[in-house]
Parts: sequence; C-alpha cells; structure tokens
Amino acid sequence: MCGIIGYIGSKNSVPFLIEGLKKLEYRGYDSAGLAVAENGKVHRIRAVGKVAELEKAALLESPKGTCGIGHTRWATHGKPSEENSHPHTDCSGDIVVVHNGIIENFLPLKEKLQSRGHKFQSETDTETIAHLIEENLKYVSGKTPEERLLAAVFLTNAALRGAFAYGVMWTKAPNQIIGVKNQSPLVVGLGKNENFLASDVPAFLKYTNKVLFLEDGQTVVLRPDGVTLYGADGKTIKPKATKISWDEKTAEKGGYDHFMLKEIYDQPQALEDTLRTAREDFSRILGLKTEDLRKIRNVYMVACGTAYHAALIGKYYLENFAGVTASVDLASEFKYRTIPPAKDTLCIAVSQSGETADTLGAVKKAKELGFKRLAICNVLGSGLTRACNSVFYTHCGPEISVASTKAFSSQIISLYALAIFLGHASGNISQNQFNKLYKELMSVPKAVAETLKIEYDVRHLTRKIYKANRFIFLGRNVDYPIALEAALKLKEISYVSAEGFAAGEIKHGPISVIDKDTPVIVIMPQNQLFDKMLSACQECRARGAYVIAITTPDGKEAAASVSDKQIVVPQASEYLQPVLDIVALQFFAYWIAKRLGRDIDQPRNLAKSVTVE
Ligand code: M6R
Repeated sequence: MCGIIGYIGSKNSVPFLIEGLKKLEYRGYDSAGLAVAENGKVHRIRAVGKVAELEKAALLESPKGTCGIGHTRWATHGKPSEENSHPHTDCSGDIVVVHNGIIENFLPLKEKLQSRGHKFQSETDTETIAHLIEENLKYVSGKTPEERLLAAVFLTNAALRGAFAYGVMWTKAPNQIIGVKNQSPLVVGLGKNENFLASDVPAFLKYTNKVLFLEDGQTVVLRPDGVTLYGADGKTIKPKATKISWDEKTAEKGGYDHFMLKEIYDQPQALEDTLRTAREDFSRILGLKTEDLRKIRNVYMVACGTAYHAALIGKYYLENFAGVTASVDLASEFKYRTIPPAKDTLCIAVSQSGETADTLGAVKKAKELGFKRLAICNVLGSGLTRACNSVFYTHCGPEISVASTKAFSSQIISLYALAIFLGHASGNISQNQFNKLYKELMSVPKAVAETLKIEYDVRHLTRKIYKANRFIFLGRNVDYPIALEAALKLKEISYVSAEGFAAGEIKHGPISVIDKDTPVIVIMPQNQLFDKMLSACQECRARGAYVIAITTPDGKEAAASVSDKQIVVPQASEYLQPVLDIVALQFFAYWIAKRLGRDIDQPRNLAKSVTVE
C-alpha cells in the first residue's frame, strides 16, 4: 500500500504535493518522493523516511512547476532506499511514474525490456511501467505528444497484470497527468483551474470536495482546465463527481471513526492481497527447494500477542495438512527454554511489524540451534525479514491501529497456504485434496466481505452488556485461539478484564468465576464439536451467565435454545471458519470500547511495535 498524489493547475505544485503526501502517510512511510515538470525537464527529489525528510530536501532544492506527481512508499519490491523510492523514470528520465499496488508480471516484462536495451535503476516493479510506456511510445501515432502518451498508456495497461493504480507525466506533454486504476484506489479532485489525482480523498480535501471515484479499468487524463475519463476499451465516459461532506480527519480514516474499524473493513481487500502471493510458487517464495521442504519434520513457531494466536491456529494447519509436528511458543519464553537440537527443523516467526524484540530474540536462538527460519511478516525489509532465511509477506498494507485486526486474519491464511503447500509437496495430501483446500482458501475474502454485514447486530447487542467488569470467551479446536484473541482484543482497547478458554476446560476451574454479571461469548459454528459447545452454553447459563453464541446459519436454532443472543456468521470450511468468527469478535471489542469512550486506536500503555524485551 502506497500513496499517490498529482497536481496540475496554475500554481507551483510542490506545496500541494507535500501536503497531500502528509495526508496519505497512513498508507506507507518508508520513503517519499516527488517530480515536477520544470522548464521542460524533470526535477525529481526522493528521500528515505517520512514525508518530513522529503519536505526538508524540497526546501533546499525548491523545485517549481505547475504539473507534478508525488508518492509515499510502503515497500513491496525492493528495500526502502532512495533508488527504490518513487517517482521512477524511463531511460530518458522524461517519463515519470508513481504507483501503488503490485505488477505481478513485472519480471518477464522487465527481462523483455532489458533485452531491448532499457536500463533499470531500481529493484521495483514500478520502473517497468515507465520503461514500457517509453517502449510503447515508439509504436503509437497521434497529432500531439499528449495523444501519443495516452495511446502508449493504453498499450501499457493491456500488458500489465496485478492490482495497481499509477500516475504518469511526460515533460514533452507537460499539460497533462494520466491516472490509471485497476483494483487499487485512485480518485480525482476537481478544483477550479486545477485538478488533483490521489490514492485517497484527504490528500486534496482542503482544496476541493468534488471527487471523481475511478472504477477498475478506467484511465483519466487531468489538465488544468478539466479531466477526460476513459473506460478499459479506450472510449470516453462522462465523469460523475461526488460531493464529499467529511472533514479532513474523518476522510483520512476513509470515513470511519477509527483506524481499527477501517482496518476491520479493509480485511477482504487485505486478504485478497495476501492470497495474491499465495498463488505464486511457494518454493520460490520460500527460497527452499521442494526436496528440502519434504524433509521438514518439526516446526517451532514463535510470536507474540495477536501473532501468537495466529500461530496457534497455524499449528492445527501444519499438523493436519502438512503432517509435521508443530509447536508454538511465546517468543519471550522460547528464548529461555531448553530446545533439544533436531535435524530438519523449521522455525516460523510470525509478526506484523517484524520489529518485535522478543520475536527477533527467539529467531536468533533458532539460528544458534541451526534451524532454518521463515518469517511471516507484513513489513518489507524489517529486522525479522533480515534475520530469517526466507519470508512470506502478508502484504495486508500498513496497520495503524495498535489493536491488530487485518494482520491477524492475513497471518492465519498465510499459515493455511503454507501448510497446504507443505502437505502437497510432501505427499501428505493428494492433488485433489490440495485443489479443494486451495479453492476454499481463495473464497475467504468474499466470505469475510459477507461477514462484515453483521456489524449492526454486534453493535446492538453490546448495548446491554458494555458495562460488565468481566467477559469470558469460549472456543474449541481452531476456535480456541480465536477465544484467546477475542479476549486480548477486548482487554487491550476497553481496559476490561477478559479471558479466553478452551470450552472443555471451564469445568476444571474457570467456571467458578462465572455468575450473572459475566457475559460469556461462546464461539460455536456448526461442526463436529457443536454439541459439546451446546453443553458449554448450558453449563454457563446454569450459573446465571448472559450467553452470546457466535454461530453459523445451521447452528442458529439449537444455539438459540441455550443462549440469550446469537450472532450468525457465514459458514466456511471447518479450518477457515476462524477467519470469519474473528470478524464478529473484532466488532464486539470495538463496540464495547467505543461505548466506554476509550482511545481505541491508541489504547493506554501500549505501542504498535514493542521493540524492547
Ligand atoms: O508486530 P508483531 O506482530 O510482532 O506484534 C506482536 C504483538 O505485540 C501484537 O500482536 C499485539 O499483541 C497487538 N497489539 C495485539 O492487537
């Protein structure tokens, strides 16, 4: 996820670009850059770090030009560095591109362009777009450079695969910026004698609230005095502008009150982005030969907090699909326990940030023990990715809220993808089984999108119970870690005591704390353990508890006979059901905390990355 901005008008574009990038910084902040058309030449400035670094450099160089584009980066291809920062150019340096998303086929395109003499300066997929436009300009006709650029952009679009949005300008056609949208966000701000291109509305909301939301496959040409919109077929479309009524702060969060809520709603897209990687050849991603993968017999997983809960679910996947022995350790504990040396052992470290000190410490120990190390991580180039032999990036975009939501679901499906891949490679599951599991996995983003519809029901039920002092969550099997995660989510943002238990365990002790003032949330999708969960509900109800069942359509009736309220989520396959169940519980935590008036995105005493032991 990156942020794109473009300005074309009668004023110097640079202040608009810097200001816009600051508003888009939530989309990525490892480096930033801008380029303006200045007296027939490109003036480009790039800086590693936050937009403030770019601003300092721009103050020194003071570029000027009424047409410019800018970018704030969340690295996906190539480490955060000045060379890899956007904007990128073609060989001549006259065509400049900023881009958000992933060009899936950039490697074959790059090789082809290199064989035709194009020289690349970065490791990014983005640079391919600039060179491809340069190449295509050789084959297009048009009366003006503006027409030729547009024709070359259409040819380029036809060759690109993936989810992306990009903006391009050419010094030979300085009166236009072209924007292209395909599955990544791109909007146009319609001003008076000036127009804006951006990944998101806050980038220009101070100057105009007239917005054109582009659709996938559309290309837009921005000039100072207007815009022209084209469909994928190259035909013009009449643009329909929307008037935005949000203030700037709300707009940054996409209209949601909190980043946490936005990130819950981001999940279908985030998971789609995670799965895009899982469609590729896993052995290439892991940098391990299939023979080596086949040999893996033991897996140690290490992680903290929410990532630890994802790893607990991953254990079920690895044992069931890959047929390997898997154990999960809190990273802070792994470092201090005795681990017998073992051959053919893989250590999997799960972390959103890749900077968690405890996880880094555990990986260091795994290295000393001679284990191969795989990171499941969201942040490119983070410490963890450097400490491991291979990395599977979750690619779920920056997570701003301290309470992890979309990172968790993307970690679960990454572990699922890894387990079925390992199972397939080792022969533990047949080709047919693999195909079925893979198909189920690919259907998850859609099912999560469907699950989001339950927010209203969850919000409503929290009204009655939000003042409770203690909450209990119960689950079994793959939903046991979901009970733990639900409790963690609730405590961290509401500051209320909450505990998660394996439902079969309550009779061994925890049931003594249950009384009429204790809401008990029972995660009970219809599956082989459903009847056991009905019993758990009854046991809690007999102690006077207010019982809420998180169930699936087929379980609703039976659940209604033993609980006070039911939240119905869609039915998924048994092993993927947790990804849907957690959505209900993320909403639950959010609405309790909201009703209590807590600081949801930055709860007290917590930090997003815990970089101390
Ligand atoms: O960046 P990491 O995934 O390594 O972070 C691990 C935990 O600190 C993190 O999951 C924490 O528990 C979250 N705040 C939970 O919402």
